[in-house]
Amino acid sequence: MTRYGLIGGTFDPFHNGHRRLVEAVNASDGIDRVILMVAGQQPHKTRVKVSAASYRFEMAVRGVSDLENVTVSDMEINRKGRSFTIDTLNELTKNMSDDDQLILVYGSDVLFDLPNWREPAAILLRYPLLIAARGGIARQAAEIQAEKLRCDYQARISFMEQDMIELSATSIRDMLVAKQPHSHLIPDRVAAMIEHHDLYGYDDELTTLDPELWGLLADYERQLRPLLNTKRLLHSLNVMRYAMHLAMRHGIDVKKAAIAGLLHDCAKCLEAHTVLHYARLAGDPQLVEAALAHGPAGAYLAKRDFGINDTEILRAIHFHTTGNGDMSPLDLLIYVADKVEPARTYNNLEGIRIAAENDLEQAMRLCLVEVEAFLVREQKPSHPYALAALKKLNVVE
Ligand SMILES: [Fe+2]
Ligand SMILES: [Fe+2]
Repeated sequence: MTRYGLIGGTFDPFHNGHRRLVEAVNASDGIDRVILMVAGQQPHKTRVKVSAASYRFEMAVRGVSDLENVTVSDMEINRKGRSFTIDTLNELTKNMSDDDQLILVYGSDVLFDLPNWREPAAILLRYPLLIAARGGIARQAAEIQAEKLRCDYQARISFMEQDMIELSATSIRDMLVAKQPHSHLIPDRVAAMIEHHDLYGYDDELTTLDPELWGLLADYERQLRPLLNTKRLLHSLNVMRYAMHLAMRHGIDVKKAAIAGLLHDCAKCLEAHTVLHYARLAGDPQLVEAALAHGPAGAYLAKRDFGINDTEILRAIHFHTTGNGDMSPLDLLIYVADKVEPARTYNNLEGIRIAAENDLEQAMRLCLVEVEAFLVREQKPSHPYALAALKKLNVVE
């Protein structure tokens, strides 16, 4: 028999309050293993922008990677549509043996919310709750509410021995957006990830966008997850956010920039022969070669599997590996965003990033010059599309 302590959360970001809770639950006598469940699209939350699920999942993974007996689950973020706790519990217990036990760990505020969830009686009848509470008045109110749930639902509720310190994810996010020091609030590995990917870098602008757009992008991200490895997934999300930022600066359609940015590498991690096959089907023989074919193959896949019919988006994906002699503003934007997204660390990127803020054509020129210099070093030929782009931008005759 294994007793699992289930801790759910949005983890936006994963902070030291989460970390201390995981450690405390892991150390408690009645728990053998801890499962961290990263929240999918939340039925109870109304906040406009939640960081992409894959970012939150990776933060949680890094936040507990040195702890034994702790696993992070992506079950909810891989599920289509909104996630209800009862569905997650049913799915989790399906894979457990009969004498295993699942104990639900929550903050005390959940005692008040839970009667409004879907099927509260079923949840409380089947699963014991372990409540992490602050001390003082909050604890007294929680005890009274717990007693009410025991009477109403036969709930089994116990409180953790030590009082928990609650950190506010909202204020930590505000500090991150304002680039204030936060090292005392976030585990080092998570802080390093946030910095490397500039995870909250554009949030002051991006939080102003339509919540429906975030819902749509979350859906595409869910479909993208099984197609890409972690590194490529995070890169794609970085390109998406950076493309959105640049689109807002340059008056380009933000939705198209976001979708093209997110999906531009959707074919990148497929088997080589499949990529070449899709590139052939995309009907551009000039790009049917190893390093470049994932452009047209990605456009083919974005149309076939993601239902993208917008020709501007498909074109930007198609040409993101080479550019071409007749680039639209969206083509330029995606090409540049891909080359200099925040986690890229080649030399000479800062100048391109500065140029990209004001002049996408100039940023494109600088990117193309870097690519050409790289090809010369590697003794590889330039692609005709890249040469056409260089000509068009008056870099070469
Ligand atoms: Fe690519
Ligand atoms: Fe890329």
